[in-house]
Amino acid sequence: MTLSRICCIGAGYVGGPTCTIIADKCPDVTVTVTDLSQDRINQWNSDDLPIYEPGLDEIVRRRRNKNLFFSTDVKKAVIEAELIFICVNTPTKNYGLGKGRAADLKYVEAAARMIAEVANQSKIVVEKSTVPVKAAESISNILKANQRRGVQYQVLSNPEFLAEGTAVNDLLNPDRVLIGGEQTKEGREAVESLCWIYSHWVPRENIITMNTWSSELSKLAANAFLAQRISSINAMSAICEMTGADVTEVAHAVGTDTRIGNKFLKASVGFGGFSGFGGSCFQKDVLNMVYLCECLNLPEVAAYWQQVININEYQKRRFANRIIESLFNTVTNKKLAVFGFSFKKDTGDTRESAAIYVCKYLTDEGANLRIYDPKVTDKKIFSELTNPLMCEDPERVKELVTTYPDPYEAANGTHALVICTEWDQFTTLDYSRIYQKMLKPAFIFDGRLILDHEALMKIGFQVVTIGKKLQRSNVHRSFSTSSQS
Ligand code: NAD
Ligand code: UDX
Repeated sequence: MTLSRICCIGAGYVGGPTCTIIADKCPDVTVTVTDLSQDRINQWNSDDLPIYEPGLDEIVRRRRNKNLFFSTDVKKAVIEAELIFICVNTPTKNYGLGKGRAADLKYVEAAARMIAEVANQSKIVVEKSTVPVKAAESISNILKANQRRGVQYQVLSNPEFLAEGTAVNDLLNPDRVLIGGEQTKEGREAVESLCWIYSHWVPRENIITMNTWSSELSKLAANAFLAQRISSINAMSAICEMTGADVTEVAHAVGTDTRIGNKFLKASVGFGGFSGFGGSCFQKDVLNMVYLCECLNLPEVAAYWQQVININEYQKRRFANRIIESLFNTVTNKKLAVFGFSFKKDTGDTRESAAIYVCKYLTDEGANLRIYDPKVTDKKIFSELTNPLMCEDPERVKELVTTYPDPYEAANGTHALVICTEWDQFTTLDYSRIYQKMLKPAFIFDGRLILDHEALMKIGFQVVTIGKKLQRSNVHRSFSTSSQS
């Protein structure tokens, strides 16, 4: 079955880019992306898109107001569409039953109820948000309990695997597209309609169809496996530091085994976030898996996945402790430049960024932080650092933290520089110039293993990193607590 009109509920990091690519690849399909937030929709309709994603602006400009529309009129778009993507947020619940672990499905449920309220003809409803297993069944129950005469629904699961910063390429060349549906004639027809959309650019053999529950669980499983790899290499980094092994070398040696593979283990630019994983997905989805296992009365399996989170927490704390320990066991009143605040390069997204936690541990110790990030706004930095869920004294944080539009200015007069995000531009800065203007001894803490440590040591820096011992930094780390810079 072909389609002529589709809509998307939720114009965020997933809904916006996914529907832009669909509009670009299916010029005969009209795509309307909707959101409750007028601000977000205004930005999608402007030259300053609400999310930074390399290559996206150009495609949005090419399709906008031709077959790609952004609107707050969610109901109208739903009424007109044959197929509706639900791309709303599913954050970790911060209240009530399952607090801190379960996914909050209130936005998904609100979207389903709204569809049932306004739909006057049959619809295919596609769950693209990441949800616990059986969420499609709940959506289906809500729709069917409220359906009007003559209106039929098919609910599909079509999880999204894009990663931020590479969303355009991931959407254009997905390893696979996953579609789960009911194993009935109507279910199979609905799956075929969605296959038809993707087959405009994705080879048919890369479109995998399966039952709805498998599809829902596969998404949680994929994120849990990826997060587990990072926690595994981060656990190795702790062993490396105690033994003299180098985590980069170990990752290379392990990753060259084709059964293991080198991705998500590499300690080169773009990988190797050894200050712990961040982002809106990994922590939320692994916690969601833990909660699911607990609800299914599988405590051993829950504990297994919980450990992936525990190691990530440990890694972020370890990195901050290493900074404090290296700076002669105190950072109180010291000036530290923080380079990078987003959870990875090429995105302005700060959700669960390791930088937030590292900054929190340092401000708790009274450090003055001078933060620079090429894409994250001051407003976002302060809202993360003063978030009431983790900050007890927002006024104190505002006193201790300053943001800078330029990395050289941020580093001026500081005791240390802390790399929290692997932005490419941090590898090409003039570190001799930065060194001249810093207090001595000048420290660099490379939380992403992206810098040329030998070259920095030649300039005179004390380099401290994670996952290996560096000769000169050791000398300073063994200073007594009474030594001050
Ligand atoms: P987001 O917060 O960026 O966007 C969600 C949008 O939905 C928001 O703009 C919000 O205003 C809107 N919204 C909420 N309820 C609505 C309603 N009833 N009607 C209209 N709009 C509504 O979230 P995101 O990062 O795009 O994630 C969306 C989903 O996709 C989540 O389940 C997430 O786990 C999953 N996912 C995210 C990524 C990623 O990289 N961000 C990747 C794969 C999957
Ligand atoms: C992730 C999944 O990769 C994607 O498939 C899913 O759809 C959404 O969640 P995302 O969070 O956008 O994507 O980025 P990703 O590249 O996976 O990085 C997540 C975090 O892990 C970042 O903080 C990154 O720095 C860190 N990371 C990644 C590491 O610490 N080490 C690595 O080797 C790779």
